[in-house]
Amino acid sequence: MAHDYIEDLSKHVGQEVELQGWLYNKRSSGKIRFLLLRDGTGVLQGVLVKGNISDDMFSSFDELTQESSLSVKGKVRKDDRAPGGFELELTGFKVIQIAKEYPITPKEHGVEFLADRRHLWLRSARQHAIMRVRHTIIKAIRDFFDGRGFTLIDSPILTPNAVEGTTTLFETEYFDLGKAYLTQSGQLYAEAGAMAFGKVYCFGPTFRAEKSKTRRHLSEFWMVEPEVAFNDLNDNIELAEEFLEHIVQTVLKERADELKILERHTAFLQNVKKPLPRVTYDEAVEILKKKGVAFEWGNDFGGTDETVISEQFDRPVVVHRYPAKIKAFYMKRDPKNPELALAVDVLAPEGYGEIIGGSQREDDLHVLLKRIAEHKLPQSAFEWYLDLRRYGTVPHSGFGLGVERTVGWICGLDHVRETIPFPRMIYRLAP
Ligand code: 4AD
Ligand code: MG
Repeated sequence: MAHDYIEDLSKHVGQEVELQGWLYNKRSSGKIRFLLLRDGTGVLQGVLVKGNISDDMFSSFDELTQESSLSVKGKVRKDDRAPGGFELELTGFKVIQIAKEYPITPKEHGVEFLADRRHLWLRSARQHAIMRVRHTIIKAIRDFFDGRGFTLIDSPILTPNAVEGTTTLFETEYFDLGKAYLTQSGQLYAEAGAMAFGKVYCFGPTFRAEKSKTRRHLSEFWMVEPEVAFNDLNDNIELAEEFLEHIVQTVLKERADELKILERHTAFLQNVKKPLPRVTYDEAVEILKKKGVAFEWGNDFGGTDETVISEQFDRPVVVHRYPAKIKAFYMKRDPKNPELALAVDVLAPEGYGEIIGGSQREDDLHVLLKRIAEHKLPQSAFEWYLDLRRYGTVPHSGFGLGVERTVGWICGLDHVRETIPFPRMIYRLAP
C-alpha cells in the first residue's frame, strides 16, 4: 500500500497519514510517549497519548528498541518546536521487527568503530546529511554539463595503459591479453570523445593505488572529467570557475538544512563565484617562501604546502603553469617558457587542497611521441591515442574534479572517509 514520506508532510497538515520507518529514539514523560521515527527522508516526532490509543498499543511502546522497524498512523500537526517542524499524533502503530541491541548509540563512538560499521553508520543524521549533499553535488555536476551541450562519453574502467604515472596502478590479469589496469582517469578516452563530439564529459569511479594515509586520499574515488575541443588553458580555467560556482551555489540553495546539521560555516562557500583569484606556480612558491616554508622551485606541492597557499584566500584559488617535469606526459608546454606545462589546479580554501587538476593537452604528434618516450611509457599502448593527433588534431583542454574532495570541502569534513558511502583506503576494504 502506498504510504507517505516525512519530507512531504508539509502538504498533509491536518490529515491522517501512514509512514514506515525505523525508531531513532524515544522518551516518556508522564502519560505521554514520544518517538522519533526516521524514514530516510527525514526524522519525525510521533506522540502517543494514553487514552487516545488502545492500552495494548500504548504498552507495546516500551518494547521498541532503537532501529526497530515499524509503520505508524496519525494526524500531522505543525509544531515549530518539533524536529523538522511537524509532529504526528499517533492513532496506531505496527511493529515490523524489534531490532536487536543496536551497536551505534547516541553516545560518542571512535571513528574506527564507526567505520567498521559503515553499513549502519550511514543511518545517522550526520552521514545522512553528507550523502544528501553528495547526491546534490553529483546532480549539479551532471546538470551543469548536460545544460551546456556536453555529451556524456563514459570511459572504460579496465584499461591497457597508465594515465597518471605508473606508480599508482592497480593491476589484474586479463584473460590471454596480459595485464589490465583499473583506470586512474578517463581523460584519454574523453579526448577521443572530444574529437568526435566537441564537448564531452566522463564521470565514473577511478582508482589509485595510493600508499598515502592522508585525509585527502582514497584508493577508489569518483571523478568527473570534461574535455573540450578548441579550448585553450584560459578557456579551461573559465569553464572550471563557472562549474565550481554552479556546484557550490546549488548546494547552498538546495541543501541549507543539511549544511546546518553539519554546522558548516558558509561564508567562504558564498564567495564561490567567477572569476576566482589566479596565481602562477611561481607566485604560489613566493607565497610559501613568504610564509617561511622551506620549498624549492620545481618540486610539487605537498598537502601542507597546498594548505598554506589556499589559506591565503577566502575562496578557491586557481594555480596555473607548473613545472612540466612534475606533471603528466600529455600536458602541453607553455610556448613562452617550455619548462612550464599549461597545467591548472584549483585549490579549495580552508586547507582543503586540490579539488581540480587539468591542462591544455599536447596536440602535436611528434612532441607527444617524445613525451611518451621521456616518461618511459610503452608507445604501442598509446597508438590509438596518438591517432587523435594524426587525424585532425586541434588544441584542446580539460580537467578532472574529484567528487569526494569536493564533498569534504563543501561539508567541512576533516577526512574524505565520510564523503563516499563505502570508502576504500590503503587500510580499509570492508565493509
Ligand atoms: O590531478 P589528477 O590526478 O588529474 C587527472 O587525473 C587528470 N587526468 C584529470 C583531467 O585532466 N581530465 O586528479 C584530478 C582530481 C584531483 O584534483 C582530486 O580532486 C581528485 O581527482 N583525486 C583524488 N581524490 C581522492 N583520492 C585520491 N587518491 C585522488 N587523486 C586525485
Ligand atoms: Mg593533480
